[in-house]
Amino acid sequence: MKKTLKNILITGGCGFIGVNFVKKAVSEGCNVLIIDKLTYASNISAIEEELSFPNVELLQADICDAKKISQAIKQHTPECIVNFAAESHVDRSISDPGNFIQTNIVGTYELLKLATEYWQKWTSASSHSFRFHQISTDEVYGDLPHPVEEIDLKEKVSCFTEKTPYKPSSPYSASKASADHLVNAWSRTYGLPVTISNCSNNYGPFQHREKLVPKTILAAANLQPIPVYGSGRNIRDWVFVEDHVDAVFKILESGTPGEVYNIGARAEYENISLVSLICDLFETKVPIASHPKNFGGIKCYKDLIKFVADRPGHDARYSIDPRKIETELGWFPVMPMKKGIIKTINHYLTDLEIGSG
Ligand SMILES: NC(=O)c1ccc[n+]([C@@H]2O[C@H](COP(=O)([O-])OP(=O)(O)OC[C@H]3O[C@@H](n4cnc5c(N)ncnc54)[C@H](O)[C@@H]3O)[C@@H](O)[C@H]2O)c1
Repeated sequence: MKKTLKNILITGGCGFIGVNFVKKAVSEGCNVLIIDKLTYASNISAIEEELSFPNVELLQADICDAKKISQAIKQHTPECIVNFAAESHVDRSISDPGNFIQTNIVGTYELLKLATEYWQKWTSASSHSFRFHQISTDEVYGDLPHPVEEIDLKEKVSCFTEKTPYKPSSPYSASKASADHLVNAWSRTYGLPVTISNCSNNYGPFQHREKLVPKTILAAANLQPIPVYGSGRNIRDWVFVEDHVDAVFKILESGTPGEVYNIGARAEYENISLVSLICDLFETKVPIASHPKNFGGIKCYKDLIKFVADRPGHDARYSIDPRKIETELGWFPVMPMKKGIIKTINHYLTDLEIGSG
């Protein structure tokens, strides 16, 4: 049965996917409480307009701060808690893993504990309508062999299903995997109604400039080197952020407690192919010949690509099998890759002097 969402508590609602989710929740008429620590990754200006609405509130707090979170839950009385809050930048997890352990594991534990205390006070008639939703990643599954290097044809077409065993590679993915195990344990042990979604790489408006897609767009816009790890052959499976947000909404409305849903758009690209695509599409927006900073006679945006030392433990390939969410919940991605990239370029160009917007 489809559930109508009213009071939602959104942690990490000032991050990349969080702001896109807040926009959707507000457009659906939900009362929204955002809890966000406002780290370097947050982008509060992205939801400036939403924050002026009477049905949207922001509490600056760490999800590890049990006292503040407990008070907030009591005041807001959510029927749904969606946990986007995380340290999410893989490179930072390699150079400084401590925050990842704290936020992604301890923070999720604190939320689960408080959510359970809160939900246990609900009457038995209404208790099934509460939901704790954990936003997770396909990176918990580890990686798949690169098709070019793979001899076994069966392996070539393999992708991550909800039954794929966890085998995380980085401190980031290991901390997210730990959090998922906690969420499942709270479901099994305490009966907390939970769902988990494991999504592939997101791109779209409001992503932090350290990430591949905005980094490439901004480097092209400024005619600076576009760094690409290793040989650029690593494969990522991409989904437009608004499609991800719609999928999470579908899970909240119609998903089954205790279930896991993989989210992906069947859009696998080698990093070098994606960067080249962005360069080609950027050319259609700002032709290189008329770029106001092009004094050095750069012929093509792809000339800016610079291969740099590979990331340690760099996963070769991710690939999501989204058939479960498609068949059980009727969610399908609607944004084609090229259109999504153009939309993303337009978003970043509006902030830059050279863009036509
Ligand atoms: N970006 C992707 O491609 C992708 C793909 C799959 C899954 N995910 C998952 O989606 C979620 C959101 O990702 P994102 O890209 O929006 O991340 P992000 O890094 O852009 O945003 C994270 C947000 O969480 C907040 N935050 C960090 N630590 C906190 C803490 N201790 N307490 C409260 N708030 C805290 C930050 O201030 C920020 O606003 C994460 O759980 C991530 O693992 C992301």
